[in-house]
Amino acid sequence: MHSEVALISTVAVSFVAAAICGYLADRLWLPPLVGYLFAGILLGPFTPGFIADSGLAGQLSEMGVILLMFGVGLHFSASELLAVRNIAVPGAIIQILLASLLGIGLSSFFGWGIGAGVVFGLSLSVASTVVLLKALEERNLVNSASGRVAVGWLIVEDLAMVLALVLLPALAEVLGATGTGISGTQLALNLAITLLKVAAFAIMAAYLGPKVVPWLLTLIARTGSRELFTLSVLAIALGIAFGSAEVFGVSFALGAFFAGVVMSESNLSHRAAADSLPLQNAFSVLFFISVGMFFDPSILLREPLAVIGTLLIIILGKSVIALGIVLALRYPIGLGLTVAAGLAQIGEFSFILAGLGVSLKLLPKEGQDLILAGAILSITLNPLIFAAAERLKKTALIKWPIWCDRHGKMKHEKLERELAIIRVAGEERDKKHQQELKQLIETFPLFSQLDKTSREELFLLFRPKSASPGERVIRVGDRGDGMYFIVAGAVEVRLDSGDVPLNAGAFFGEMALLSGGRRTADVVAIDFCQFLVLDRRDFNIFASRYPGLRSAVTTMARERTEMNVSRQKADD
Ligand code: CMP
Repeated sequence: MHSEVALISTVAVSFVAAAICGYLADRLWLPPLVGYLFAGILLGPFTPGFIADSGLAGQLSEMGVILLMFGVGLHFSASELLAVRNIAVPGAIIQILLASLLGIGLSSFFGWGIGAGVVFGLSLSVASTVVLLKALEERNLVNSASGRVAVGWLIVEDLAMVLALVLLPALAEVLGATGTGISGTQLALNLAITLLKVAAFAIMAAYLGPKVVPWLLTLIARTGSRELFTLSVLAIALGIAFGSAEVFGVSFALGAFFAGVVMSESNLSHRAAADSLPLQNAFSVLFFISVGMFFDPSILLREPLAVIGTLLIIILGKSVIALGIVLALRYPIGLGLTVAAGLAQIGEFSFILAGLGVSLKLLPKEGQDLILAGAILSITLNPLIFAAAERLKKTALIKWPIWCDRHGKMKHEKLERELAIIRVAGEERDKKHQQELKQLIETFPLFSQLDKTSREELFLLFRPKSASPGERVIRVGDRGDGMYFIVAGAVEVRLDSGDVPLNAGAFFGEMALLSGGRRTADVVAIDFCQFLVLDRRDFNIFASRYPGLRSAVTTMARERTEMNVSRQKADD
């Protein structure tokens, strides 16, 4: 392959192969992602034929993870994350510990050292974000209580892995690798720095992000350029993901997730979600391709028992642990089964951990192969696990109806209630915004010619202002600083020839802006008034972006001038 076009050929061949294999998988009643994995195996170095650049594919798949996590964040508010913390935090931590122990147990069976066992166990203990989200999406569970818990659980796992990735090199010597030369003090220092960085990241995400990101988005949306908006959404997502990885040492995925969460507070989050969705879909396909590419199918023949053991830990061990934790925390079995099924797979983090383990000479190459085999098989089998969980739930309901009904009922109801309150608050905010827009159109028929997005953009240009009866809003002879739309109340235009009343739905202050000259009359509020003001700069944007509106306003200004001239003449 020409190295100059490696990127293009990797993307092109991956998309083509994924599309074909995805379609074939669908025809065989298999989920398309099995097709993508298979396409990856075909393009990988372990099968004959075309070999794509696996390094590039890996990086591109990272883009998929970033965009996907960003998308989840967009639909996930910070309060929802807090609502599930009582189950997600202990659940994820205990599951990581127990699943790691299982991994260590299996690896000691292979005769590996404790270092290899720790890396192997940790790799098996974390689930893949991409796989979980696809599974939840397919079953329409992303917004359910179980879906929220599963995603929250995954976020905690993700945070734990950030620590693990930092600690691993530091602990490598203790765990049996040679030559890393890190002392105890150095280790404590590394840990403290990491914790500080994660804390700094959390503070940024909680306090600075929600102020800066929605503001930035509004600023861009006000320009009215659609492509600039889409670009900025992606820039914010990828920029925050990359920036947080560089500065705070957290994973790309976590950075992107929080970029989405802070953006979800904005009224523009729906547009941001719609804009980033196509890319999200395309790049998450590359994730599966790259998993397939790294997979060496010969391991299935070389080490069938080890593969089965690994798979059993991922699918059975982790599910049983997750279910046990959920039940012990007194949440219902249905929720436990969904979480268990969703997390009974491994993916991106496991590869990163395994890669690091090999480079630190902690994990034998064989361990990495087993992890890849475990990933590909557990991802492929995941739909079956979900089906089995569903089956189990039904059986439990039939066999122990009373227990199923009672166990965890209170906590589940409380969680559902909390999530519902949060959801309703979000919906109310959306509804209020939509109503404001609707009211705007009803009050000002002038705007009815605009499409939905243009109305949204126009709305962003307005600044609300109020006035009390008797207050002079515009003074004759002043320079024109803005144009006013009367939302409620009434004003009087004071002309030498007499007063002209203007009510809700009318506008004024356009003449000076159009002519670039001075105000032609005093305008005084005669009631409590609510205005929407277009400042001079925004008026110019408004006029150039919506020529139809500009000509309507110009016509009105001309009529008013003519009227004033003729009234003046009549007076004289
Ligand atoms: P401007 O000259 O910027 O400031 C005073 C405003 O009064 C003017 O823009 C018009 O919007 C408004 N105005 C002037 N004459 C009339 C009129 N005859 N009828 C209604 N509004 C008017």
